Amino acid sequence: MRSWLSGQRRWPTLRFVQRSPEATQSTPARTDPAGTARVLVASNRGPVAFASGPDGELQLRRGAGGLVSGLAQAAADAPPGAEPIVWVCAALGEADRRAAGRAPDGRLDRAGFDTGRAAVRILDVDPPIFDRAYNAIANRVLWFIQHMLYAPAAQPVFGAEFRQDWAGYEAYNAMFAEALAQEAAPGASVLVQDYHLMLVPGQLRRMRPDLRIAHFSHTPWAPPEYFRILPDDVREQILRGLLGADRLGFLTDDWADAFEQCVRALPGIEVRRRQVRVDGGRTVRVGVHPLGVDAGELRERAGQADVASRAAELAALARGRRLIVRVDRTELSKNIVRGLLAYRELLRTRPQWRGKVMHLVCAYPSRHNLPEYREYTASVRRLAAEIDDEFAVGDWCPLRLEVTDDYPRSIAALSLAEVLVVNPVRDGMNLVAKEGAVLSRQDAVLVLSREAGAHAEMGRSALVVNPFDVQATAAAMHTALVMPASERHRRAAELAGVAGRLPPRTWFTDQLAALASGS
Ligand code: G6P
Repeated sequence: MRSWLSGQRRWPTLRFVQRSPEATQSTPARTDPAGTARVLVASNRGPVAFASGPDGELQLRRGAGGLVSGLAQAAADAPPGAEPIVWVCAALGEADRRAAGRAPDGRLDRAGFDTGRAAVRILDVDPPIFDRAYNAIANRVLWFIQHMLYAPAAQPVFGAEFRQDWAGYEAYNAMFAEALAQEAAPGASVLVQDYHLMLVPGQLRRMRPDLRIAHFSHTPWAPPEYFRILPDDVREQILRGLLGADRLGFLTDDWADAFEQCVRALPGIEVRRRQVRVDGGRTVRVGVHPLGVDAGELRERAGQADVASRAAELAALARGRRLIVRVDRTELSKNIVRGLLAYRELLRTRPQWRGKVMHLVCAYPSRHNLPEYREYTASVRRLAAEIDDEFAVGDWCPLRLEVTDDYPRSIAALSLAEVLVVNPVRDGMNLVAKEGAVLSRQDAVLVLSREAGAHAEMGRSALVVNPFDVQATAAAMHTALVMPASERHRRAAELAGVAGRLPPRTWFTDQLAALASGS
């Protein structure tokens, strides 16, 4: 993935015409919309990705995850003959870029690739620009701000390099806006996703004021005093970029409230609950859509043979011991290290569990272009080895760390869990909590961080923890292990009900309907 990057970042000269915000603002409105799409989606990561096969041939893989499956289902709902949804995404690696090069206007569906019912336009972003936009700004600045991951005594530092990176982010956003403007029919609805594309709504509105534009944030939103760590002009550009939309979506009320508090600080902005009036004119609606999982689809997947064979392997590994499970990307915000410290604390302070439990930690590599992530993964491995050294005895293996991404194994792990640990320091929602609730065959007790978006809906039925307090997290693991079966059953049923309340298809179509009706 992202193979043009080596561990050392080097900054090649930019090959694009940098637009100042003023220049972008004066872009004349287009009067000749050429596209035919009635509904468009834009996201950095698209529904398909390519890999190079053994002979260098392109192999297409379908993306997984809530948005992809929700959209696929919504696309399948469209009446036959209707214009397909057009999904605009970025080429993420060399194989994606080769595929983009073969497709007229980047339209994979027109190049004979099977993209399902949605049409896919993949943008061949110049690798240095993609690196600045995705790695340097989206993942290293915006993700860190929204998840409050900086330790401000040392970081961040916004200097000349940041300004170059920011220009890359502007250019990358402008590529999306231009592609959307070309594909969209008059009056079409455009649903822009996430922190990679926060300038797109404003850029697109200037090109195509006829469109209905929505943006959805899949992350938390930082409180204003943290959000204003960003340079003032950049902060304002982001907020005004988003306010170019007709509708802004968030996963929880807390994140929507925090966003409203941030825009309140801007001149010319009036905020009334869930409505923002921009410069005395347009009203931008703010909506809350707590994405859930498709319970039927997940259970059906869990019934397949590959999951059953992984479940048998895991059961053989556990040898009847009680399983404490977590499934995460190795992501700083997921708080895997404190989760391991809590497990160590459990074994140190409650020796009755030694030999009786096993902690299965599925922590798949993520964003390894960034040194912070590589270091974090190394610290997870180190601590797991230390715990093993401290406690392993006889045939008891206290902890198993899995670092390869294996979806059927994750499903099997979630279905076998007796305790599921979801302890992020901050998380937009955390769909693992919901997937675990739906898949559980053991009435798993959910140990849940109060800082996860899922807490708003699931907190009542979970054991809620302060993610920084490892002693309290260890105590919650203990409470989960001794909980009476009847209480586990009641809580598990409540959690499963909540998890499937807003499946991706409904999440998507609700937003589309709200955008169309202006509500
Ligand atoms: C989060 C973001 C998504 C992103 C995903 C994986 O869930 O909200 O937009 O796609 O992480 O991150 P990656 O950087 O691998 O796309």
